[in-house]
Amino acid sequence: MKFFSRKWVKPEDLNAYNTLFGGRLLAWIDEEAAIYSKCQLESKSVVTKYISEINFVSSAIHGDVVEIGLETISFGTTSISMRCVARNKMTKEEIIRIDKIVFVLLGEDGKPAPHGKTMADIKGIKE
Ligand SMILES: CC(C)(COP(=O)(O)OP(=O)(O)OC[C@H]1O[C@@H](n2cnc3c(N)ncnc32)[C@H](O)[C@@H]1OP(=O)(O)O)[C@@H](O)C(=O)NCCC(=O)NCCS
Repeated sequence: MKFFSRKWVKPEDLNAYNTLFGGRLLAWIDEEAAIYSKCQLESKSVVTKYISEINFVSSAIHGDVVEIGLETISFGTTSISMRCVARNKMTKEEIIRIDKIVFVLLGEDGKPAPHGKTMADIKGIKE
């Protein structure tokens, strides 16, 4: 799994307990997975289809740096499935784990469209 982006936890990212708000982290992950899918499928027309059970393993606090990792599990006909881990960059402690995130490629008609990719096509996205 490659860890693509890093986020600095700022005051506006916190919940009432002064830890990282879960919704903020999910938004970061959704954006990261969208970018990853666009790169892998070589198209900007991808949408989030499915996110599996989400396990908030530990929290982050103001000033922490969170890194988000993604890897491809499989390619379907119109979809790509990924797994995700977000962790504290310094301690490597896992913050969240998502076993399956599915994005679907849409055609110009807004319907799922075949992407023609397989595991052999996985892009070595720049680190
Ligand atoms: C994406 C969308 C067009 C797909 O429509 P659909 O009728 O489910 O299409 P299909 O049944 O043909 O499925 C498309 C792909 O998604 C996969 N899929 C569908 N439901 C799934 C689920 N619950 N879990 C995992 N994958 C799923 C299918 O297996 C298929 O993949 P494949 O072609 O690689 O086998 C439609 O669901 C949609 O517009 N959803 C809203 C997307 C959106 O707005 N996302 C932004 C966040 S709200």
